[in-house]
Amino acid sequence: MQVAMIGTGYVGLVSGACFADFGHMVTCVDKDAGKIERLKAGGMPIYEPGLDQLVAQNVRAGRLAFTTETAQAVREADAVFIAVGTPSRRGDGHADLSYVYAAAEEIAKVMNGFTVIVTKSTVPVGTGDEIERIIRKVRPDADFAVVSNPEFLREGAAIEDFKRPDRVVVGAEDERAQRVMRELYRPLFLNETPMVVTDRRTSELIKYAANGFLAMKVTFINEMADLCEAVGADVQQVARGIGLDKRIGGKFLHAGPGFGGSCFPKDTLALVRTARDAGSPVSLIETTVQVNDARKAAMADKVLAALGGEVKGRTIGVLGLTFKPNTDDMRDAPSLAIIPALQAKGARIQAFDPEGAHEASQILKDVAMKDDPYGAAEGADALVIITEWDQFRALDLDRIKLLMTSPVLVDLRNIYKPQDMRARGFNYHSVGRA
Ligand SMILES: NC(=O)c1ccc[n+]([C@@H]2O[C@H](COP(=O)([O-])OP(=O)(O)OC[C@H]3O[C@@H](n4cnc5c(N)ncnc54)[C@H](O)[C@@H]3O)[C@@H](O)[C@H]2O)c1
Repeated sequence: MQVAMIGTGYVGLVSGACFADFGHMVTCVDKDAGKIERLKAGGMPIYEPGLDQLVAQNVRAGRLAFTTETAQAVREADAVFIAVGTPSRRGDGHADLSYVYAAAEEIAKVMNGFTVIVTKSTVPVGTGDEIERIIRKVRPDADFAVVSNPEFLREGAAIEDFKRPDRVVVGAEDERAQRVMRELYRPLFLNETPMVVTDRRTSELIKYAANGFLAMKVTFINEMADLCEAVGADVQQVARGIGLDKRIGGKFLHAGPGFGGSCFPKDTLALVRTARDAGSPVSLIETTVQVNDARKAAMADKVLAALGGEVKGRTIGVLGLTFKPNTDDMRDAPSLAIIPALQAKGARIQAFDPEGAHEASQILKDVAMKDDPYGAAEGADALVIITEWDQFRALDLDRIKLLMTSPVLVDLRNIYKPQDMRARGFNYHSVGRA
């Protein structure tokens, strides 16, 4: 099949490369000429493990190409995916659909023959209807179907998630469109991946329901962590004790500094808005949003308390800035709330992140970026682990302790054991553990 991917970001580039790897002919389009230049020159605009090789292989095989020209990619395509951003609209939390609608208009102008337009971007219920209306207005004569196909990949494990998903969700009423979607995902059906075929609105809602539920699960264990601290229990054992129950499941039960990233914060907000507009508020998700926002502020207070309530003029080392390991994505990362809160109280921040330093330095002010974890520890009055990159699990702790001005370690991801750290002479603080 001929595929056009409109938007070559985290989702578009991974999906495009994976579809090419399935054997389809894919052209990835982006408005950002710098991004396309870089890809054409064999570079990568984002960090995602394994993606550079997958892209290079498929470019070499002639199945994957990049362009800034929507027309060129769409004209030949059987399926055109919309994978542009849907950030929170400033002020009201609604999903900003301006990129999606602009893409729909551009596609409409140039599409040719029966074309399936597939929304991979996360969009509120009814967006597919609006896309259909826009295309019909621009091209009353066109033969097309608009399909919803939400994406569930996780950054950091995106290729594996795309190629071995738990399920593929397709919202399509048109039979021809369903056939195209089956053909696109055929290699997955050979692996017996379940395909959930629904009407378009249901499919759109499935994505928000999934992210809302996961955000709520994370927030639940975070509240349990606070309770554990208050009553002298251990949240990791609580998580294991409940997670072994198959009705609950062990994933997304890691207590930490609150969820961030490019999806949960904006998708929970958008779900809240959609539900309110529909007159059917989702109070569990509204509370999840509030609890999570408060949590990020509380994490700065935790660091403050570990330093005896005073950080003015003191140096705090930070390990990990991205919203999770194995990505350079800084969108809504907890570090963006914690670091400025500490700076506002007069702390000096020095930080290390394996992949996110460049992106982080565009957003965070007055943070001294260091070349390795030891640089972040040097001369620090406290060291705070915000993101659990694997390399932070095997630090030379004796060296860290020697480098620090005082051995205060605040481990917001519980990657070390309290007894071990105390035995090594650290003043150790973690989340939800005595
Ligand atoms: N990042 C994730 O982990 C993830 C996972 C699942 C779903 N999603 C959803 O996928 C969508 C895309 O997310 P992302 O993280 O890939 O965003 P992104 O910001 O990384 O990429 C979007 C890209 O689209 C480009 N673009 C915008 N308008 C365009 C146009 N008219 N023509 C061509 N290119 C255009 C932008 O330049 C940008 O490169 C969002 O709706 C998001 O919620 C993201």
